[in-house]
Amino acid sequence: MTLSDFPAMVDTLWLDIHLATLADQTPYGIIEKGAMAVENGRIVWLGSIETLPADALTKARSVNRLDNAWVTPGLIDCHTHLVHAGNRAREFEMRLNGATYEEIARGGGGIISTVTAVRNALEADLYEQSAGRLKAMLAEGVTAVEIKSGYGLDTENELKMLRVARQLGREFPITVMATFLGAHALPPEYTGRPDAYIDLVVDEMIPAVAAKGLATAVDAFCERIAFTPAQTERVFTAARQHGLRVKLHAEQLSDSNGASLAARFGALSADHLEHLSATGAAAMAAAGTVAVLLPGAFYFLKETCKPPVDLLRGQGIPMALSTDCNPGTSPTTSPLLMMNMACVNFGLTPAEALAGFTVNAARALDMQDQWGILEVGKQADFAVWDIEEPAELAYRMGGNPCRMTVKGGEIVSRLSSTAPG
Ligand code: NIG
Ligand code: FE
Repeated sequence: MTLSDFPAMVDTLWLDIHLATLADQTPYGIIEKGAMAVENGRIVWLGSIETLPADALTKARSVNRLDNAWVTPGLIDCHTHLVHAGNRAREFEMRLNGATYEEIARGGGGIISTVTAVRNALEADLYEQSAGRLKAMLAEGVTAVEIKSGYGLDTENELKMLRVARQLGREFPITVMATFLGAHALPPEYTGRPDAYIDLVVDEMIPAVAAKGLATAVDAFCERIAFTPAQTERVFTAARQHGLRVKLHAEQLSDSNGASLAARFGALSADHLEHLSATGAAAMAAAGTVAVLLPGAFYFLKETCKPPVDLLRGQGIPMALSTDCNPGTSPTTSPLLMMNMACVNFGLTPAEALAGFTVNAARALDMQDQWGILEVGKQADFAVWDIEEPAELAYRMGGNPCRMTVKGGEIVSRLSSTAPG
């Protein structure tokens, strides 16, 4: 960047900041003592304060001084079931009294208990309950979120969930990417007839979702308690026919060869992956499929088989992280807590954890052109943190050091620090 690159006029000049740009392979892409300029919602200049032209202040309509706060790209939560009704605290209690997640699911609880709650919820109630969760994420630096359907499991209620997701994106200063997850579980009215349910997903739901433009991707749960690879393949084929990208809940509870299947369809991501095999990883690497790791679900289900992080690293597969925000396996809205868990339980470095919620999360949603790193030309979506070094984001267990969340150059959330000194 040369001095002449500074524009004639900018909306806002951000000063007295350190930047973790995530724009290169050095951990964090750090620019200490940096500055950043924003015009029309985009980053138009960033660099070290020493390279800032002397007259930059006179070219800024406003100046924000942040007394040495750290700035990162806005966090991107790339795998959530944030739209849902009710909670499953009772099942949490049952598990602690000895039942397993799979037993509860086979007994008609699990995902199906949330399906009942979603079917019974008015659209406005579903919106209100979900908005509370999104608000918490916004306050923790989140500027983009993926939201899945999958608790309606009939056309009407799947569309209802996706409309709520779209409404959240309109009401909140957060980019919402919606994913259709009709093949999440078998609804009770189709007991014993899974292929007939897949017919409904393929022949009615996916065409309706695509026609209404309510989702950009299609996900499925390929697992012994959900759908087989053959059924998943039918869902992916229909998605492709309707111009929708695919993702997959793969190898969460067992190795079902889901990652290879997803890779064959050019999946954006394969998610969970605790039981991923070397063959599955190789297929993902060849297809450019992102690995989305979900440490909240791992923790909450007391899973002991860890995702093969060394294998992913060795294959050069980008690792994203996400909250998996859902009532059954990951009742959380906190990216920072997930970063801590990914470091402690999966062995990610704090820099990998931050990349997992920024640059690699953007790839998992195919939004890396405009989001995920701080760079000239990218959207001015960023989070400002009251921390002394970037590793502190993954270090704390709880607390929220997010001073402000900025979307398109505008401050959209402010919070005084609650982190201990
Ligand atoms: O990501 N694995 C399947 N889906 C969710 C769990 C949903 C639920 O239990 O309600 C997950 O873990
Ligand atoms: Fe999930």
